Amino acid sequence: MSLNKSCVLFTYEVSKIKLLKNEYLINYQYYDGDYSWIMIVTKDDILRADKELNKKTSILNRNDKTCHYNKVIRLTKIRDKKYALKFGYDAGIFDALFTFYQTHKLKPTVEFLKISGFIDDKHEDLYGEDEMKIQVDENNVSENNVSEIVFDGMNPDDYEVSYELTLIKGDCIESLQRISNKPIQTICIDPPYNIGKDTWDNIDNYIEWLTDVVVSLETKLKDDGTMFIFHNNMESISELMISIKKHTNLKFIQMITWNKRFAGSKKKGFLDGYVVKKDAHKWELMAEYILFYTKDNTWKYKDARVKHKVCSKEIQKEVPSKTGGMTGWYTNIETGLNFPTRERMIPITKHLGLKYEDVVPKFKNQKIHHSVWNYDSAKKHKNCSHVTPKPVELLENIIKHTTDEGDYLLDCFAGTGSLGRACLNTNRKCILIEREEEYFNFMKDELFQG
Ligand SMILES: C[S@@+](CC[C@H](N)C(=O)[O-])C[C@H]1O[C@@H](n2cnc3c(N)ncnc32)[C@H](O)[C@@H]1O
Repeated sequence: MSLNKSCVLFTYEVSKIKLLKNEYLINYQYYDGDYSWIMIVTKDDILRADKELNKKTSILNRNDKTCHYNKVIRLTKIRDKKYALKFGYDAGIFDALFTFYQTHKLKPTVEFLKISGFIDDKHEDLYGEDEMKIQVDENNVSENNVSEIVFDGMNPDDYEVSYELTLIKGDCIESLQRISNKPIQTICIDPPYNIGKDTWDNIDNYIEWLTDVVVSLETKLKDDGTMFIFHNNMESISELMISIKKHTNLKFIQMITWNKRFAGSKKKGFLDGYVVKKDAHKWELMAEYILFYTKDNTWKYKDARVKHKVCSKEIQKEVPSKTGGMTGWYTNIETGLNFPTRERMIPITKHLGLKYEDVVPKFKNQKIHHSVWNYDSAKKHKNCSHVTPKPVELLENIIKHTTDEGDYLLDCFAGTGSLGRACLNTNRKCILIEREEEYFNFMKDELFQG
């Protein structure tokens, strides 16, 4: 999109105009006409327009519907006016179009534009090669491809987006609010442990603060999603677990021990690595821990039973014991003691309509299938002062166990962006939030250029 003089471009809150992969729907309008039409542009076009706007003093200050999202971008561009008249619509229609888009957002762009009455076949020739061309990846249309990340009011320097990655510079809780409940398959956080490792590692009301973060994260998680929380301080872990139990509906599954061969250890192996220190009064710490949570979906069984007017016994007798008697297999599932196998899910689906994915968290067995994991501590990065990067291979193990290719992950304490690297290595998508400028810039460079 070249920047010349002659017409203006109005855009809306970026989140509301994001269509599919790097496609944004915008409203385009001449200075001298009441006509506008829609066009598809890329994020670069919008960022360029944003920058252009900052340089200019005269921003159109209209209070009509076109501007009611409070974001007007002035873009100048030569365009044949006859197109505006031939192809144009009143700007107000644009709002109706967005409402319509909300209900049809899973449709491919072209189809959506056609069923909304905004374009028909004869208009397609007006989409020039270089700018108004609509590109739709028909194979890639799913809820996951419709970005709902809100950047309204954010400085373009504070976020970076590609198809796979969304990087946000900012405070975790505030930034999480910008993610409009995007369903995330796996959340993996490595929060400050509050042990004074760095300036970011001293937090007042630590447990309350971290609980608030987890409460906010829970709302982003898919029903079959999982959450992993790194920590190494046992007192904090115990307080945190109690607090999470009190304030969320997350279900604690287990604690994983990360047996790390730390720098001072004799490199003999994970299980016999050792450090000898004078005047030691306790054993050297050799491990960190990862709390593994899923959503608690057990309430769904009872809800479905009430809805379908079925009692537990009816379901239970579908799978009798070897001697033909009744077992407690279904009750154990409904009370959260067991997850159903796919086989056991068949009678549950028959009676309650619930599907496996509605109630069982995604978990895919891999080679490392026990809860003690041996991974070397990650090496510090040359160009970044971050003191606690996590090993990418360990994160890949979490990713492979709990997600499929194309799923979304999230880390709101991204640091050097290790989770983003692990996601790129395994074809997953990732949202990363980091507050400190140095780390944000480092991971932006590392992940977008690497
Ligand atoms: C333990 S480090 C994470 C390291 C990361 N796992 C990695 O592999 O590089 C915790 C990170 O959280 C960031 N942080 C601390 N408080 C934050 C907050 N309120 N919002 C966002 N990030 C925060 C710190 O700057 C730090 O980079």
